[in-house]
Amino acid sequence: MLNFPNGFLWGAATAAHQVEGNNVNNDWWVKEHAADTQIVEPSGDAMDSYHRFREDMKLLADAGLTSYRFSVEWSRIEPAPGCVSHAEIDHYRRMVDTALSCGLNPVVTLMHFTVPQWMFERGFWRNPDAPELFARFTEAALPIVSEGVEYVCTINEPNIAAMLAGGEQAANLVAFGLPRPDLQVADALLAAHKASREVLASVPGLKSGWTVATQAFQSTGEPGADAKLQEYGYPSDDWYLENAAGDDFVGVQAYTRTFIGPTGPLPVKANVEKTLTGWEFYPPALELGVRAAWELSGHVPVMVTENGIATADDSRRIAYTDGALRGLHAAIADGVEVIGYQHWSALDNYEWASGFRPTFGLIAVDRTTFVRTPKPSLAWLGGVARANALPAA
Ligand code: BGC
Repeated sequence: MLNFPNGFLWGAATAAHQVEGNNVNNDWWVKEHAADTQIVEPSGDAMDSYHRFREDMKLLADAGLTSYRFSVEWSRIEPAPGCVSHAEIDHYRRMVDTALSCGLNPVVTLMHFTVPQWMFERGFWRNPDAPELFARFTEAALPIVSEGVEYVCTINEPNIAAMLAGGEQAANLVAFGLPRPDLQVADALLAAHKASREVLASVPGLKSGWTVATQAFQSTGEPGADAKLQEYGYPSDDWYLENAAGDDFVGVQAYTRTFIGPTGPLPVKANVEKTLTGWEFYPPALELGVRAAWELSGHVPVMVTENGIATADDSRRIAYTDGALRGLHAAIADGVEVIGYQHWSALDNYEWASGFRPTFGLIAVDRTTFVRTPKPSLAWLGGVARANALPAA
C-alpha cells in the first residue's frame, strides 16, 4: 500500500459564488448580468448550497472524507462599506459548527475571486486602501474562525486574480486564454494577504496561507522557449510561491500543464485527451505543483487545496485523481510535508465564465430540484480516505 501520513486530511472544496446561489451583491453577479457580457450564463441559484450546506457536508463525511474547504462571501458579510451583517457571520459560523459536528475539519477561504460590488466600484485591488479593506473584512470575519478552525486560506489563487485583472475579456481560467497579470494588483494582493494574516494571528493555533494555481509551465524546447518560460512563468506562478515563505502553509491548486514556446503559452495540442474545460488530462500536474511550492517557498508545509477535472465520465475523474495522488505520494516519500488533499470539487458547480457545463463534482446536482446524487468517485475517494492509503499499482 502507498500510505499517507497520520492525520492527513482528505476532503473536497467549493467556493461561495460557485455553489451558494444569489450572491447578488458582488462584482461577478454584476458582470454576469452586464449587457455585453462574455460569461455564458449567470450563476442564479447555483447549487443552493447557501441553504443546503448541511446535506453537502453530510454526504462528504458519510463517504469517509475528513475535511471540507469552503469560502465565505465578503459581499454578504460586508454588504456596504463598514456595515457588517451579524446574521451572515452567524450563518458561516453555523457552517463551521456543522462541519465540526460531522467530523469534517473546516478549511475556510476568506476570498475566492469575488468582492463586494462597492469594493469593485472603489477601484478594486487598485484602490490604495484595498489591503486595509481586506484586513478590516478579516477582522469582521474573525468570529467565524475563532474556534475549531485550524486552517484559513486568505486569498484564493492571487496569481489567477492578478491575471484576470490584467484584461477585461478573460474567457476561461486557463493560462492560454488569460491576459498577463496586472503587477500592481499582484502587489496589492500580497499586501492584503499579509495584513489579513496579521489579523488572523490573534487566534491561537490558527494557521493561514494563500492558495496558488500552480500551472506546470513546460518549455517546448524550441530556441527561445526556455527564456520565455522563465519570463512568463515567474510572474504567473513562482513569485506567489516564493512569497509564501514564512506562512503557516501554502495551498497548491493543480489541474493541467501549459506548454510555453518562443512566443509564449500554446493552446492544448489536438492529439491529447482533453477535459470539459478544454485542458489536457495531465495528472502529474499535482506532483509538479507540490514540489515547486515546497522548494520555492523554502519548505513551507503544503496543503493541496484544489485538484480535479471537469468530465461527464466519472471513471476518468477516478483515473485522474488516482494518478495525481500517486504523484503526491512520491513527493511525500521524498520528504515534502503535505497536510492534506482537497478535491475540486465537492459538487458540480458554477464554473465562472463557462457556466454550469464543465462538471468538476464528486456529487451531481439537479439544477431545478437541487437533489444531490453522489458519483462513484465520491465513494472511491472516501475509500482512499478511510484507508489513508492507495493500493500499490
Ligand atoms: C478556481 C476554481 C475553479 C477551478 C476550475 C480554480 O482556478 O479556484 O474556482 O472552479 O480552478 O477552473
